[in-house]
Amino acid sequence: MAARIIDGTEISGRIRAEVQSGVEALKKERGTTPGLAVVLVGDNPASKSYVKGKNKAAHEIGIYSEQHNLAATTTELELLAVVDRLNHDPKIHGILVQLPLPDHIDEQKIIAAIVPDKDVDGFHPVSLGRIMTGTPGFRPCTPLGIQKLLSYSGVTVAGSHVVVVGRSNIVGKPIANMLMQKEADADATVTVCHSRTRDLPSVTRLADILIAAIGRPEFVTADMVKEGAVVIDVGINRIEDPTHPKGQRMVGDVKFDEVSRKASAITPVPGGVGPMTITMLLYNTLQSAKACKA
Ligand SMILES: NC(=O)c1ccc[n+]([C@@H]2O[C@H](COP(=O)([O-])OP(=O)(O)OC[C@H]3O[C@@H](n4cnc5c(N)ncnc54)[C@H](OP(=O)(O)O)[C@@H]3O)[C@@H](O)[C@H]2O)c1
Repeated sequence: MAARIIDGTEISGRIRAEVQSGVEALKKERGTTPGLAVVLVGDNPASKSYVKGKNKAAHEIGIYSEQHNLAATTTELELLAVVDRLNHDPKIHGILVQLPLPDHIDEQKIIAAIVPDKDVDGFHPVSLGRIMTGTPGFRPCTPLGIQKLLSYSGVTVAGSHVVVVGRSNIVGKPIANMLMQKEADADATVTVCHSRTRDLPSVTRLADILIAAIGRPEFVTADMVKEGAVVIDVGINRIEDPTHPKGQRMVGDVKFDEVSRKASAITPVPGGVGPMTITMLLYNTLQSAKACKA
């Protein structure tokens, strides 16, 4: 039977409406407008487009947002000074420095300079430590988007065996840690796989919920999936396709056609995890503004 489609665009729309209501309530009750600062260094076209999308989305739901465009030649010290200013700016509740940064800037140093209370991207070591210990804090946007997708589509995570393929700091490691916590929308038994995993299909076939965050087009095939599993495809890959008007198209890490005939539910690419990421940034910014005592 064909799998149920977990529609990230629809779920993301629902959550944005909830965040918008939260923003309006905060303005009315406390006179606080949540504020987001997005910092872009250099002119990487993909980064420029992500930053534009984030500012536009924030603006649309009533979050104050400002964009700081810095030259590619900006020094590490200059960038640290910008972060420091934003750390102390009471209008700003969330700071996001768009990655990757130019090679001459130490990304970890910049991320660590953001005050954890404004770390809406969730990459600060304190935020990552809070995931490990299961204490409240900002969760990185893509993993949080995955957790919300599962929750809003009624997938039971508690007690399930989740297999995550990929151990990156931005997706694999945080989602694995989040779903193993003793808390709501978690409580799973989690296995993490990577490029050195022996006989990967024999492990992925154990998954009740399979999360693919690999970065290899259509890598997960039907023989790697258990009948009735829930499949979350995080991958964003562009492949050549002469039949497509642009000569290429976007695919995930999962071979959608065949896996969707075996899974019980699956996220499409595009339209699955992707739309959730920016929405979670807005969600985190609202949470930050709500938590702000000033
Ligand atoms: N939808 C979104 O908003 C969003 C956000 C972030 C990322 N993404 C997409 O998600 C994908 C993963 O991103 P990422 O940043 O996590 O990638 P990454 O940093 O390149 O990590 C990829 C992971 O996949 C593992 N891997 C690679 N080849 C493998 C193989 N043959 N067998 C098993 N594991 C293998 C790697 O193992 P090793 O550790 O052993 O090298 C690594 O842990 C990409 O397509 C990216 O574009 C989407």
